[in-house]
Amino acid sequence: MALQLGDIAPDFESDSTEGHIRFHDWIGNGWAVLFSHPKDFTPVCTTELGEVARLKPEFEKRGVKVIGLSVDPVSDHKKWAADIEETQGSALNFPLLGDPERKVSDLYGMIHPNANDTLTVRSVFVIAPDKKIKLTITYPASTGRNFDEILRVIDSLQLTAKHQVATPVNWKRGEDVIIVPAVSDEDAKKKFPQGWKTVKPYLRIVKQPQ
Ligand code: BEZ
Repeated sequence: MALQLGDIAPDFESDSTEGHIRFHDWIGNGWAVLFSHPKDFTPVCTTELGEVARLKPEFEKRGVKVIGLSVDPVSDHKKWAADIEETQGSALNFPLLGDPERKVSDLYGMIHPNANDTLTVRSVFVIAPDKKIKLTITYPASTGRNFDEILRVIDSLQLTAKHQVATPVNWKRGEDVIIVPAVSDEDAKKKFPQGWKTVKPYLRIVKQPQ
């Protein structure tokens, strides 16, 4: 069965461009994003890896480590890294797993045989410090991902892990949020003493807690 939200992200050992990795040890006590690429030396993947390298400080600010995967061997990744730096202006600054035997790809269900039976799709897994999967997204090979959206979801996941709020459509960090229905008005008075706006009894808007 496919991995689902709330499942423990399977642990594995694999070679990477930054040496041998034991996944759970590598994650440590923070958050992680694991994302797959169909193949080395392909155009869309090249742009994505450059963009994630450029955004690395944004992930770090949020306590998130990033790690990519491609089914080609690490020796190919290392050659491809030169092209990424040359064409995207950002050098690979996070590990890229080599997975020629598809051990990790199969463990995480990254190969969707009805789309392509040898290459991975573009999978994204966001993993929390408790090693549970908090987000999965799957894009086809032909569509590059929007990593600003992944940062946006991480902001929501980290906020809602800490406070009893949910984030509305298109929410961005700093904007108003929603008090979750499980919190009664009486409890909300204690948790949100500055008050909130009741649009409907189930739709209560409050300033984003810090
Ligand atoms: C790409 O990264 O450009 C790509 C990879 C596999 C299939 C199609 C596009």
